[in-house]
Amino acid sequence: MAFPKINPTQTQAWAALLSHYQQINDRHMVDLFQQDQDRVDHMSLEWRDFYLDFSKNRIDTTTLKGLLELAEECKLSDAIEAQFALEKINETEDRAVGHTALRNFETMPKEVSETLEKMQVFSESVISGDWKGFTGKPIKTVVNIGIGGSDLGPDMVCEALSYYRNHLEVRFVSNVDGDHVMEVLKDLDPETTLFLVVSKSFTTQETLTNASTIRSWFLEHASEADIAKHFVAVSTNLDAVTEFGISSEQIFPMWDWVGGRFSLWSAVGLSIACAVGYDHFEALLRGAHEMDQHFQETPFDRNMPVILGLLSVWYNNFFEAETECLVPYSQYLSKMVPYLQQAVMESNGKHIDRNGQPIDYYQTGTVVWGSTGTNAQHAFFQLLHQGTKLVPTDFIAFASSLHGQQDHQDKLLANFLAQTEALMEGTYQQDPADAFKSFKGNQPTNSLIIEKLTPENLGSLVALYEHKLFVQGVIWNIYSYDQWGVQLGKVVAKETLRALQDQDSGELSNFSTQNLVKRIVD
Ligand code: F6P
Repeated sequence: MAFPKINPTQTQAWAALLSHYQQINDRHMVDLFQQDQDRVDHMSLEWRDFYLDFSKNRIDTTTLKGLLELAEECKLSDAIEAQFALEKINETEDRAVGHTALRNFETMPKEVSETLEKMQVFSESVISGDWKGFTGKPIKTVVNIGIGGSDLGPDMVCEALSYYRNHLEVRFVSNVDGDHVMEVLKDLDPETTLFLVVSKSFTTQETLTNASTIRSWFLEHASEADIAKHFVAVSTNLDAVTEFGISSEQIFPMWDWVGGRFSLWSAVGLSIACAVGYDHFEALLRGAHEMDQHFQETPFDRNMPVILGLLSVWYNNFFEAETECLVPYSQYLSKMVPYLQQAVMESNGKHIDRNGQPIDYYQTGTVVWGSTGTNAQHAFFQLLHQGTKLVPTDFIAFASSLHGQQDHQDKLLANFLAQTEALMEGTYQQDPADAFKSFKGNQPTNSLIIEKLTPENLGSLVALYEHKLFVQGVIWNIYSYDQWGVQLGKVVAKETLRALQDQDSGELSNFSTQNLVKRIVD
């Protein structure tokens, strides 16, 4: 099955949507609701513990039909099939895209199931205290050293599953900023700390610098022979890890067919298995797999990732909305936005299409931002309600709370419901003197209500957004799974590092950088 390479703007559906947009652009959602009493019924989806109400969008049945036709014309089905068949759809890196294979327990490759077994044995021995540090004490703290996909996913999940955490403290160090690593090390006991060096490539400057600073700190207290009890690595680059001083038994493998930002399901999730126990980690994987099946098998008009992806294309390409906002009404999901920023923006921030042509006539990747509700209401909601920008927003909530504080939960959900209603309806002030109290409404939102925050549901939720961004990438005719855009900055940083270390800006070609280096070193 060839991966499609269709320019979306040359489809019939695109042309039809363009003219349809002219008709619906000025329509208010309040009128759309009045016209169609069954709107909620045919603009909502139920799947397992998930309920998605997308009726508060600037769409009607013609819009939906047009978007679904766009998906057909762009051959979304073929694209999904090619991805799950592990074809090399990441053509610019000549790689398959296999994160979904990591969570399919029926078909997973032997190397994946063996790695899961290794993760189980290891995490259980750390949790039980059988794994001892160099002075014979059990481990109390696990530190994940990684950046980007080797940090954001595990950090987000450990935070999201705080309720399920055991006694281990888990910390994350990512930034090459020395103050970050020193803060993480500040009150650590080397005798009871385990370091996970996580880097797919094992060439990432930040991770290698942090790992070697931590290694030196550790060796101030212990000997080289003790490293085996305190350092393990997750990587594809076995030679580089061994050279760093971590022996092969201490390495958890990864594979080049798993992208960094989709790797929390691999051994990159070792910190998760340590923090919540292997069984919960496995439940996370199983939940993601259930969403994979939903995505693969459900007709597009009932398919949650497809509907969310198409709605996002609708606003991005027809309303020309530049950003989309995510507001989870759960403090546990406070790290979801930074996680999705990498997943979505590293994947879909592309300006060359799958035919190698520049894309200068339509927009690709959306800017993702947001924060948890209700906090966000007291920060940026003013702009959503009365600003001049169109910001489609996803609201996510759990129907039941984990700690069962019903009064809090009622207030939390009341706010969620009230905000989506107010954003849609707005309110009009007759008296011109009160114009500043008017809310125009008509701000689109999706309401996703999930029964409860369990590891399984979290897995499904993350997979939902992974598939949504894939749908968008297919429609936009871009390669969502490469990230060449991060290279140039890395190359330039090598030159500027040399200039800073030599205290010599003379060789730098950019006058502004040259001047800034002078200011810093002089
Ligand atoms: O620079 C971007 C990136 O390559 C991400 O895609 C990746 O998640 C991150 O760096 C970390 O890479 P690694 O796991 O190889 O250290």
